[in-house]
Amino acid sequence: MRVLGVETSCDETGIAIYDDQGLLAHEVYSQTKIHADYGGVVPELASRDHVRKLAPMARQLLQQHHISQSDIDGLAYTAGPGLAGALLVGAAFTRSLAWAWRKPAIGIHHMEGHLLAPMLEAESPDFPFIALLVSGGHTQLIQVKAIGQYELLGESVDDAAGEAFDKTAKLLGLGYPGGPELARLAQSGDPNRFQFPRPMTDRPGLDFSFSGLKTFALTTWRTEQSPTANLQQLKADIARAFEDAVIDTLLIKCRRALQQTHCQRLVMAGGVSANQRLRVSITDMLDSMQGQAYYPRTDLCTDNGAMIAYAGWHHLKTGKQESLAFNIQPRWPLA
Ligand code: KG4
Ligand code: ZN
Repeated sequence: MRVLGVETSCDETGIAIYDDQGLLAHEVYSQTKIHADYGGVVPELASRDHVRKLAPMARQLLQQHHISQSDIDGLAYTAGPGLAGALLVGAAFTRSLAWAWRKPAIGIHHMEGHLLAPMLEAESPDFPFIALLVSGGHTQLIQVKAIGQYELLGESVDDAAGEAFDKTAKLLGLGYPGGPELARLAQSGDPNRFQFPRPMTDRPGLDFSFSGLKTFALTTWRTEQSPTANLQQLKADIARAFEDAVIDTLLIKCRRALQQTHCQRLVMAGGVSANQRLRVSITDMLDSMQGQAYYPRTDLCTDNGAMIAYAGWHHLKTGKQESLAFNIQPRWPLA
């Protein structure tokens, strides 16, 4: 079975083709430049740009790989969670194409896409595993028993990890999107200058809270400024302390989730899983536990069509499909 996947939940337009042989092709267009001036995603601009990009990108991908409509057996799109307008563009486009081509189509949960993305790699995890989903909108620990069997173990009670990265980057005057910028700056930061808290680690449970770290960063930034201060170094030191705190907190909760479920496989996915120091720390921790960590390659950590094509391939293969009506769910719990 060959599936065309479409991702438009936020500010990336993703298109991909997945079949029984693996990932055939994938293309991502990022709207970063459009939103950079505003310091964050402007939903209406996001929707309009998906309208502009989607059809030409799909046409080009099919032409480049000499694939015609008769070679496609089904279509999948992100149905939520995400920005309503952006989701509607992808859903309407994909559902219409499926109708015109007389092929089945299915709406996919964006976080299920992220969660399954590590399975696109040569070394992919067996079930069951614990998934740490860390993106701009979500921080969740999920026990995955099989495809479609997801139990939420814990999640952020306020800001998601990616959101905290972005907000902290913004208050330090870094560009958008802030996560990668802050991570870059942290490389030249002194790990011993500031010690940020590890929120909610001193009590039982698997929930997270990251909004306090952003406030901690702001307070440090304000109180440490003086006429003689090296502001660039101060920013780097704050970035390092912030990143260390997020990584440590994620590690503590992951270890707890693995111990609680007697599981030795951890899958990490979502935009923040592109963070190199986080990847190394998670790998080291799993090594020390005689376990194994799995991630997607870095370009499949952030939003992409490949993960949607892959999730769609799984569901369509079992005969699932939708009626001609399509629906989006901007808010949609995975479990
Ligand atoms: O999964 P994603 O592309 O979109 C959502 O579904 O939200 O995740 C985007 C998030 C942003 O908050 C971005 O700043 C963060 O992932 N991110 C990073 C890194 N690369 C992307 N955060 C920390 N370090 C990175 N290297
Ligand atoms: Zn995402």
